[in-house]
Amino acid sequence: MSPLRELAHAKINLYLHVTGRRDDGYHLLDSLAVFAGAADELRLDCGYGRGGHVRLRIEGTFAPGLLDDSADNLIVRAGALLRAHVGTDVAARLPDVEIVLGKELPVASGIGGGSADAAAALRLLLKAWDLSVDRADLMVLATRLGADVPVCLDQLPARMEGIGEELTPAPGLPPCGMMLVNCGQSVSTPQVFRTRAPGFTPRADLPARWNTLADMVRDLSAQTNDLQDAACAICPEITAVLDSLRAAPGCRLARMSGSGATCFALFDSPEAARAAEPAVRQGKWWVWAGDLYRTGMRLDARADSLSA
Ligand code: C5P
Repeated sequence: MSPLRELAHAKINLYLHVTGRRDDGYHLLDSLAVFAGAADELRLDCGYGRGGHVRLRIEGTFAPGLLDDSADNLIVRAGALLRAHVGTDVAARLPDVEIVLGKELPVASGIGGGSADAAAALRLLLKAWDLSVDRADLMVLATRLGADVPVCLDQLPARMEGIGEELTPAPGLPPCGMMLVNCGQSVSTPQVFRTRAPGFTPRADLPARWNTLADMVRDLSAQTNDLQDAACAICPEITAVLDSLRAAPGCRLARMSGSGATCFALFDSPEAARAAEPAVRQGKWWVWAGDLYRTGMRLDARADSLSA
């Protein structure tokens, strides 16, 4: 049987407001997340025993430094959580699997790579193990893996609130292109949250849809990424990346995604983004240009999914 395959697309926060703080230290957010064409790839093969164990092998551009089979890896943790959720009797009958992760997104970089991998692993395992898990339960499992994992399950543009797990549909998006740039330094999310200036930003007021990129850029320009200044203070090269993106021909808006260090820029089209790439690319920077990922789908609407 050919391996099952899933793409784990980069999640981009077009804006990110810190609106409050929970008693447990987690921050309340208001953020608009979209997905870019850039992705990690996961392939799953069944079959060397039973018990529902997940083996992980990592290859690809950003594999160096990542450990195969690490219990800390979100893919391995997703497998363990799903196995625990179905209980020992069911788990004993599940085939063991090997997942090969093609790591093409920079690690710990504010574009949800690890979260997207965890969500893709959940999608793959539901298929491979022929499991039916209620959507609400799946969302709880995803949130336990990380605040960004729920939005990565469907890979649909979404407004994220709560700590990231309260999802509502995003405004309709116009055609556009996107560039992503990462300077090669990973930034610690908890450190960025700790370093940010105190205070909160109100929830954004968004329309039901944006008909043109100009409308979207006008509204997004009025919003902020409240983690950007802190991340730039920790990693000054982010400022150089933002300057370079803003100077690129055709750039309409440049901002950092998530807790950094990856920054994004919006262009009129994927072609315009790709044409601007040479003006931005330098040294060890990772640069990607293309379209948003526009064919995400609710997991329970996918013909090949078995969620209840
Ligand atoms: O949920 P995740 O593991 O991605 O979060 C990593 C860290 O980022 C958390 O331990 C917390 O310090 C911080 N965080 C936060 N508020 C959020 C999301 C993350 O404070 N909404």
